[in-house]
Amino acid sequence: MSWVDDAKRRAAEAAADHVVSGSVIGLGSGSTAAHFIKIIGDRLSSGALDDILGVPTSHQTAEEALKAAIPLTTLDEHPELDVTVDGADQVDGSLNAIKGGGGALLREKVVASASKSYILIADGRKLTERLGDCQVLPLEVLPFSLGVVLRRLEGLGCKPRLRMGDGKLGPAVTDNGNFIVDADFGYIEKPKVLEADLKAIPGVLETGLFFGYADVAYIGLEGEVKKMEGR
Ligand code: 5RP
Repeated sequence: MSWVDDAKRRAAEAAADHVVSGSVIGLGSGSTAAHFIKIIGDRLSSGALDDILGVPTSHQTAEEALKAAIPLTTLDEHPELDVTVDGADQVDGSLNAIKGGGGALLREKVVASASKSYILIADGRKLTERLGDCQVLPLEVLPFSLGVVLRRLEGLGCKPRLRMGDGKLGPAVTDNGNFIVDADFGYIEKPKVLEADLKAIPGVLETGLFFGYADVAYIGLEGEVKKMEGR
């Protein structure tokens, strides 16, 4: 296992200690969240945890949860979640994050907003002093509105790029049937202002800016896990 993969696993293990029996948990998407799902599955099968229900943030995560034998539920049945654990593409010192590398940002933000506690897990490469440095901001966009949205994004001074499918011709399509536009703004000095500007564009369904959600982040480094607290 590479140090990065091991760092992801150790961060996931630290986050798993926040999950107690009888909880309804949000399950994030991506390779780091996959470690968390496996660990929760292992704790359920060993009897260290019981009576857990999970709300997955993507089809991929639902499959991983099924493999790990974590019973699933929905936000209709459980509109309030005890804790959600999710990965990130970038995290700053105030636990603000950019997410959406896996294209699941819309469901991830809905689940984050429904969680009493929201924990980010990542390897040390994701830690940044300045959100947006060397990192695009993913946006979920209504396909019908693409041309308008791209024009408006250029007007906001960014370089937008429609994400293309991998193993599929044409654009990547989200689990919700939408497109992802990766918007390169460079360093995002005022995330709240940018979020408001982006949300004011009809057709931008959600942004990958997650600020004010996380109360804890575990960052896996070589040899240790750094705990950061916020909110
Ligand atoms: C998916 C996400 C992921 O959490 C993010 O891309 C991090 O993924 P990984 O853990 O594989 O690096 O936001 O939409």
